[in-house]
This record gives sequence, structure tokens and C-alpha cells, in this order.
Amino acid sequence: MVNKHTQALLASWRSQHISVRVIRLWLGVTWIYGGWYKAVDPGFLAKTGPTSFARELVGFQTSSPLGLIFKYMLERSTFFGIGVILIEFALGFATLFWIAPTLSAFAGFSMSIGLWLTATWHVKPYFLGSDTVYAVMWLSYLLVLIGNRRKIDVSLDRRGALRVASLGAMAVVATLLARVFQKRTTGSALTPGGAIIKVADLPMGKNHEFALGTGEPVILFRTKNSVFAYSQICTHQGCTVQYLATDKALICPCHGATFDPFNGAKVLAGPATSPLASVKVAVSGDWVVLA
Ligand code: FES
Repeated sequence: MVNKHTQALLASWRSQHISVRVIRLWLGVTWIYGGWYKAVDPGFLAKTGPTSFARELVGFQTSSPLGLIFKYMLERSTFFGIGVILIEFALGFATLFWIAPTLSAFAGFSMSIGLWLTATWHVKPYFLGSDTVYAVMWLSYLLVLIGNRRKIDVSLDRRGALRVASLGAMAVVATLLARVFQKRTTGSALTPGGAIIKVADLPMGKNHEFALGTGEPVILFRTKNSVFAYSQICTHQGCTVQYLATDKALICPCHGATFDPFNGAKVLAGPATSPLASVKVAVSGDWVVLA
């Protein structure tokens, strides 16, 4: 016997046009995946590291028109990081399971606008930043819901309050579950003296990428006379730079900063203003090791 909410849930899917169902499914699944992706990442709630939420906030502070808010958030980055995970799960479940749908669509729209003003504010052209696309998708979905209801009803009766509470429970359970499946940092952390690669496996003129114990990505070069390495964390806002052999340069995919690895990783083109951090390496016997 199907209860009233299950009937309403099934009816909500049946009554929507296929185009709306596609948008709803995509938004719901993607928001749940977004929460899961962050929750299983052991680096997301860390204070440093390439995928750290705190590090993202540092970048937002300087680049976003909402910079001041992020100073406050940075001091409470763990709290806000967990909040982001829970909200993403909650909005995904709410969208799929038809719980406070209009309110959820409005929250999804607001969140996407917030991300656009922060994470993808400097992405040019604008359509390469996914948050603008999500903002438009949430807005379209929200307008469909408003159009169907003729009014936005955000009042909650007892049953509605229970559904919202169950949504919170679903988000918490999903977060805890994701933490169980959290990616393990495999292998021993690379410490000074730790072997990186055999010299024989790194021919002259080639490079090799590895990660420090903190998860920080590093790129190692071998030239005729030496081995040297740099952090791949861009000194502008922390994206990961990549080596482009044709340009003989390390290039940041986010805003195009370019660094010269054969000259102390000095800046060849902005917006970064300082060189990449150098990582000390040395040759010890047959191995290149962390110095
Ligand atoms: S993060 Fe902006 S250029 Fe690298």
C-alpha cells in the first residue's frame, strides 16, 4: 500500500513534461554527487591541500566581489565545509523526492549564483564556468514549479515539517556513509629522504608528477645538469598548473598564469605575481629523493 507522500512523489514525476523531468533528474543527481564527491575526499575539510575548502576560501577572499564574507567563513571553514556537503545532499534529495520542491529549487538557484560570484567569477568566457549554467537550470526549473503552483507556498503543516526533517536525516546519513567510503590516502607519506622515482626512469628532458604527503601535487624535472621540482599549486588562486612541452612552460588552466620551470618557475605571464614554490629534491644513488 503506497502512502500519500509516495503517491504525490510518483504523481510529481508523471505530471511533469519530459523536458522538466530531465532537468530535475540532472540537478538532483548532480547535487547528490557533488555532496558525495566532497564527503569522500579526505582533503576537503583539511586546512591545506589542493582540494581543501579552506584553501578555496582564501582564493575567494581575494577574487570575489563577496570577499569579506569569506574572511568570516575561513575562520570557521570546517563548519561551513560540512554545511556545504549537507546542503548539497539535501537539495539533491529534495529535488528527486519532491520535498519542499519550490524552496529547494530557489535554494539551488541561490547557491549556484553564490558559486558563480565566487568559484567561477573569473572564468572567461562566462559559459565555460559551470555555475552560470546551473543557475539558469535551477531558475528555469523554479519558474516551471512557480508556474504550476501559481503561488509559492512555503508554509509547513505537520506532515510537511516531518518531510523536511527526514530530508535533513537523509543528508546526514549520506554524509556519514560517504565518510565511511572516504578515499584512503594510500602509500606512506613522502618525507625527506623518501624515494620519488628511479633516475633511470626519468630520462633527461622529461618530467614526473608526484604528490607530497599533504597531497600537494609536485612536478619534477631532470635536465642535463640537475633535478628540480615545483609545487603545481598556482600562486594566483591555487589551481593546478600543467607542463606544456610545446611552450616549455607551466601553465595554469584557470586564468592562464604561465611560469618558466627552467628559470626558478618565475612568472612569464600573470595574473600570478610570484613564482611557484620550489620543492627540494636530490639524487641519492639510483633514486631521486625528497631532500
Ligand atoms: S589560479 Fe588564476 S592563474 Fe592560476
